[in-house]
Amino acid sequence: MQKLLESLVEKHRPAAREGKVAEYIPELAKQDSRMLGVAVVNPKGDVHAAGAYRTRFTLQSISKLISLMVALMDHGEERVFAKVGMEPTGDPFHSLYKLEITEEAKPLNPMINAGAIVVSSLIRGKSVEERAERVIQLVREMADNPEIDMNRAVYRSERDTADRNRALAYFLKGCGAIDDVEETLDVYFRQCSICVDCIDLARMGLCLAQNGVTLRGKRVIPGDIARLVKTFMVTCGMYNASGEFAIRVGIPAKSGVSGGILALVPGRMGIGVFGPALDKKGNSITGIRLLEDFSKKLGLSIF
Ligand code: DON
Repeated sequence: MQKLLESLVEKHRPAAREGKVAEYIPELAKQDSRMLGVAVVNPKGDVHAAGAYRTRFTLQSISKLISLMVALMDHGEERVFAKVGMEPTGDPFHSLYKLEITEEAKPLNPMINAGAIVVSSLIRGKSVEERAERVIQLVREMADNPEIDMNRAVYRSERDTADRNRALAYFLKGCGAIDDVEETLDVYFRQCSICVDCIDLARMGLCLAQNGVTLRGKRVIPGDIARLVKTFMVTCGMYNASGEFAIRVGIPAKSGVSGGILALVPGRMGIGVFGPALDKKGNSITGIRLLEDFSKKLGLSIF
């Protein structure tokens, strides 16, 4: 396994040339596009990792999985899915388009920005800080790493430049889907800035692979919620590239614009990948190729 991961990193790193780091958040534009790292953790706790697996990066959209789980634990399925749907969109992650043409302003799913902003509005807590802290705490528990925290420079950078998300949030407020724009966005930006490495991601993946039970055997997510979130990973986890990813790679995965991908094989392993050069749809270009190769070599597709 160790040799395989090292050879995959070497083989796929050059493809970073074909992608670009996210530039719309100034702090993310500073990332080195040539990096590629991967970590794999199995239920026995064996860790195999290669490349830039110790480099820290922010969760970005991977946090949409975690906030969804917190909102589901706070309110239950019925209340959450009254406000956000369960269908893939086929549109880019920050698109406003479908919101305008659907009858009620109900975002199609919680993995696009509009849906994730509605989900962030549902997270309980006395203050914005407390609400975001509850998301961070679940990340710490899933990864068995109490040191995980926000990257404040990335948080501020996104908060100060998020015109497109503000447009989405004001639209949602205008339709009665959320109450307070700045408070809701503040929770969302904070969760996006949670900082991890590939091993943290792989442990989080393993927790989902074990239906909500961590490497150390602690249940931190109810089994039905873990299952539901894994289904979203398959149908919407890679945005409007989710169908192709399901065919080529065939495992639940969720990407973020920092270049992270959290992936898993049910019951068998958690996988964390980091490669900040993105393709046109906002997914890690090297990360996807590495995962495709890895899945084919080991026959990991769940289909
Ligand atoms: O909302 C944003 O723009 C980011 N904080 C998160 C988006 C993201 O990661 C999309 N991923 N591919």
